[in-house]
Amino acid sequence: MSHFPPSFLDEVMARSDIVEIIGRHVELKKSGTNLMGLCPFHHEKSPSFSVSPDKQLYYCFGCGKGGGVFQFLMEHDGYSFPEAVEYLAEKSGLEIPQDSERKPGDEARQQQAFDMLDRASDAMSRALHGEQGGKAREYLKNRGLPAAIIRDYRLGYTPAGYGFMNKVFGSDARTNSQLEAVGLLFKGDHGYGDRFRDRLMFTICDRRGRVVGFGGRVLGEGEPKYLNSPETRWFHKSSLLYGFSEHRDSIRKTKQLVIVEGYMDVLALAAHGLKIGLAPLGTAIGEAQIREIFRLCDSPVFAFDGDRAGRQAAWRALDRMLPLLKAELTPRFLYLPEGEDPDSLLKAKGGEAFQQRIDEDSKPVLETWLTGLKLLAGQGADGRARMAKKADAMLATMTDNYLQQAWRQEVEQATGISLQQGRQRPALRPNELQSKQQSELNHVQERFLAGLLQRPARFHSLPDIAAGFFVDKDGINLIYSRAFSMQADAEDDNTDIARQLAQEFPDYQTMISRWVNQATVQDIEYKSLVLDMEANDIRRRMKRGLNLDESVRLQKRLSVLQQQQRQLSEQLSDTGA
Ligand code: UTP
Ligand code: MN
Repeated sequence: MSHFPPSFLDEVMARSDIVEIIGRHVELKKSGTNLMGLCPFHHEKSPSFSVSPDKQLYYCFGCGKGGGVFQFLMEHDGYSFPEAVEYLAEKSGLEIPQDSERKPGDEARQQQAFDMLDRASDAMSRALHGEQGGKAREYLKNRGLPAAIIRDYRLGYTPAGYGFMNKVFGSDARTNSQLEAVGLLFKGDHGYGDRFRDRLMFTICDRRGRVVGFGGRVLGEGEPKYLNSPETRWFHKSSLLYGFSEHRDSIRKTKQLVIVEGYMDVLALAAHGLKIGLAPLGTAIGEAQIREIFRLCDSPVFAFDGDRAGRQAAWRALDRMLPLLKAELTPRFLYLPEGEDPDSLLKAKGGEAFQQRIDEDSKPVLETWLTGLKLLAGQGADGRARMAKKADAMLATMTDNYLQQAWRQEVEQATGISLQQGRQRPALRPNELQSKQQSELNHVQERFLAGLLQRPARFHSLPDIAAGFFVDKDGINLIYSRAFSMQADAEDDNTDIARQLAQEFPDYQTMISRWVNQATVQDIEYKSLVLDMEANDIRRRMKRGLNLDESVRLQKRLSVLQQQQRQLSEQLSDTGA
């Protein structure tokens, strides 16, 4: 899972508080032993998002998202796993263990780089508003960008000629080589030089809002029109999106996301109150970026130019998207009139008109695909054959089997040709596996497991036969027997089994969180669940055709269980529950 030692991960978890981390985004109210709030992952009016402070796990009963504190930082705040670990470690003052991959001093060097980039961004915005920034200010004025946008998105200016960076940071050898490492200076035959000169500067941040690079536009004519920071350890063009950290929250809130081509489009949208734009950094959009996009929003709109280049870019994006598509996702494609971009349309027609265009003119991904296929394949019988062939090859890259089948039928209908390839069901992936097992757990099993994990001391009083309760359910059985052994090893009853399990079985974290966070299983219900579980187990065994002795014994046991079950329900009605 990572290169962090498990003991370190334990320590990080023990020192962090999921309630505090989630509490920054969600208003949580006490409800029994847990806390409840409005789910930050989907839109809802009444709270179904539960957080367990004891177990340090969350679960949403509305959308099914759940996990621990690392999971939340990853799913909600867009951290990678190592980033989440480092963030929490840093926060609680833990030293991050160094291993062969992490040289000593790395941490400090990294922090210096981020500080340098941040200071560079500030210097550029001072220059924009200073003596030399007149031309750039004029340019921005002509393009109609409001002052608030210029400030909030940290636009700036780098003066013409060389020496700006050295003026800001000094020019000793060490500084120069640091400035080179973060992409602000280049090293030529005659020493170091400023990479960005006489350009309007766009500050580019990573998912956590740290400055990692810049885009610089020429003022007037010149090549290239946009110059970007080179790839550095922190600036990865293929996985960054311009506007991500600034727009993440409002994209989640409005459930709207438009992917546009350029920096100016993102800013023009924001200037019109639409803080929902993201753009790749001058490269074609790739899989890593599409994954980020789907993590933010189920129904993103990909906007492209209506010209040939735009259609090609759209087709490429669609192709990259196929392996990530699921029936639950509804991306759309929007072609703009030729020669227009969101920036020019917004300027001409305003925010509402653009919003309307998004709503009315964007087309579902399936329709975009079919149209594209037809265009590519051409007319006539051989055109239909080409279309079927191409479709078959693309369908083979899809991983959602249901969606794949539905799309295949569409192409078969359009072409009258039955498709050959990709009929076999691909091997189950962990997520599918999980949802399959999840759906196979019946209500009694679910509540039984919830009852155990909510109060692990209950493991002690289980009948012997309980060890075999889940033999037929691979993953669940594994978790269940692991819980048994953890409990046996535990010194006291307070050992946090659920937390440990969630860590050991990351694929099942969501399920474990759901067990912990659901309505408390009270003692009477729990007793009755144990009886039900045993009775079901006996019925299953009796089906297997046993010898007479054995089946008489089981029959007897079954009636004892039924008797006990009746007593429990009487008790229950006595207490008025
Ligand atoms: P465009 O040429 O469409 O520019 O490039 P634009 O965004 O409309 O910019 P304005 O309105 O003329 O100022 C779209 C995007 O492609 C990248 C940039 O990210 C730009 O925002 N690009 C373009 C480059 O990286 N280098 C270039 O030379 C040109
Ligand atoms: Mn433009």
